Amino acid sequence: MRAKPARPESGVASAASGLIVKTLSLRDYRSYASLELELEPGIVLAVGPNGAGKTNLLESLHVAAQGFSPRTRADAQLIRFGERGARVAVDAEHGGSPAAIEVTLRLGEVKRARLNGAPLRAAEELRSKLPTLVFTPDRLAVVKGGPAVRRAYFDRALGRLFPSRAQTPTEYAAALGNNRPASRGGVFATGSTRPLDAARRGARNNPCRRPA
Ligand SMILES: Nc1ncnc2c1ncn2[C@@H]1O[C@H](COP(=O)(O)OP(=O)(O)O)[C@@H](O)[C@H]1O
Ligand SMILES: [Mg+2]
Repeated sequence: MRAKPARPESGVASAASGLIVKTLSLRDYRSYASLELELEPGIVLAVGPNGAGKTNLLESLHVAAQGFSPRTRADAQLIRFGERGARVAVDAEHGGSPAAIEVTLRLGEVKRARLNGAPLRAAEELRSKLPTLVFTPDRLAVVKGGPAVRRAYFDRALGRLFPSRAQTPTEYAAALGNNRPASRGGVFATGSTRPLDAARRGARNNPCRRPA
């Protein structure tokens, strides 16, 4: 299997806030006993026959950037058959600063993660620190499904790009839920304007949800 930059000069990965992976290192991860992969900024194509390990490679990047697999919540499945532990390490640049990420798994133990050497309380904490979004063939519902699925996916994408707004869709949904009976009954009584603010902010920030 080969992983090669498709357009190294492309500006796609050059956004200041983007995460640019420079090296990926795997030990006993899925089909990889050992892998040291150097990458360049830009779009990278992973090319190889069925079963070569392309999806495993993408999955490992997601594990490093988000702390969990997009394919399974059973972390033991990520450990190479017959082994007792696995390690995913990524050296990257995030917003112009170096980011060294390490996620280690051991059978029967909780997953551990370090960011720039500092242990995180939970590997999933990486999620709020590094912007990553996965799109795999099993997510075709985003294209084929109803608008709610698409909105949820783009809300997630925007949440990765603007982490401070990541909670807005949740607050927005809660605000809609809270206000629905009030709007039906013509009465609005709430001790807090926070949900309403969130709804207003949601509508303002999300072009798809701006009132016509
Ligand atoms: N925990 C594991 N240990 C060893 N091999 C694994 C593990 N999980 C999956 N595999 C192997 O990974 C291969 C599939 O890799 P995958 O990345 O899905 O291929 P593709 O290149 O088609 O995307 C299969 O041969 C499967 O047996
Ligand atoms: Mg695949």
